[in-house]
Amino acid sequence: MEFTANYKDIAQLHIYETPAELAREFSDYLIKKIKKSNAENKIFYLALSGGSTPSLIFKYLAENRKSLPSLSHLHIFWGDERCVPPGNPESNYGNAFNTLLKFLNIPERNIHRIHGELDPGFACKRYISDLSVLPKKNDFPVFDLIILGIGEDGHTASIFPDQMLLLKNQAWVAIAKHPSSGQQRITLSGPVLNNAREIAFLAVGQGKKKVISEIFNDEAVASNYPAWHIRPNSGKVLWFIDKDVLA
Ligand code: 6PG
Repeated sequence: MEFTANYKDIAQLHIYETPAELAREFSDYLIKKIKKSNAENKIFYLALSGGSTPSLIFKYLAENRKSLPSLSHLHIFWGDERCVPPGNPESNYGNAFNTLLKFLNIPERNIHRIHGELDPGFACKRYISDLSVLPKKNDFPVFDLIILGIGEDGHTASIFPDQMLLLKNQAWVAIAKHPSSGQQRITLSGPVLNNAREIAFLAVGQGKKKVISEIFNDEAVASNYPAWHIRPNSGKVLWFIDKDVLA
């Protein structure tokens, strides 16, 4: 895959002193976008990430829920899910529900979880049906914002370096497999991720330093990282990181 633009020229990098400051500033950024959708009477289609970093945001939003705008225009999806029931501690939906969603009055019909408890093939089909409510562009659903994390191996969502074909998979949703645990995952495919109006990567801690520096310097190894291939066709890719990532 050849890209012409240098990664640092297409990405907006936001660096914060601490994870707490990142959580506050990203939450404010997200709230501004939800308010804009409300003002325009438009639905805001948001996909949450799994992993531990988004919990910083979930906790901040839950603690400050009294100052949140109306969420009546917000529809929540996920970028990926582990193939486990929602009550399993591994569940991305379960984590989001327990740290944030249970405190908010978002109608259940506007929360579109991936049914990790089902047969993975069926869970994919069901999620594709849920995704059909989104506006489309080039036959792929368009999210207003997809929040993503990045693994130390450069994976994002559940697209892992040993499954790079998922970056080009024409199905909207695919079954993936964690390379070391073998855990099955359901993930949005690369074309859906790159169809978003905006992608926001969240990353904290020194553990992410090497992979993020290799991506932003377009080092040869970066092309082995699924995250490096996430460049929304007509959208923006933002990175919210804390200074430990650069330390
Ligand atoms: C998941 C995520 C995954 C995550 C990265 C970073 O389901 O685990 O989709 O892509 O974002 O592994 O995880 P941390 O935020 O925990 O470092």
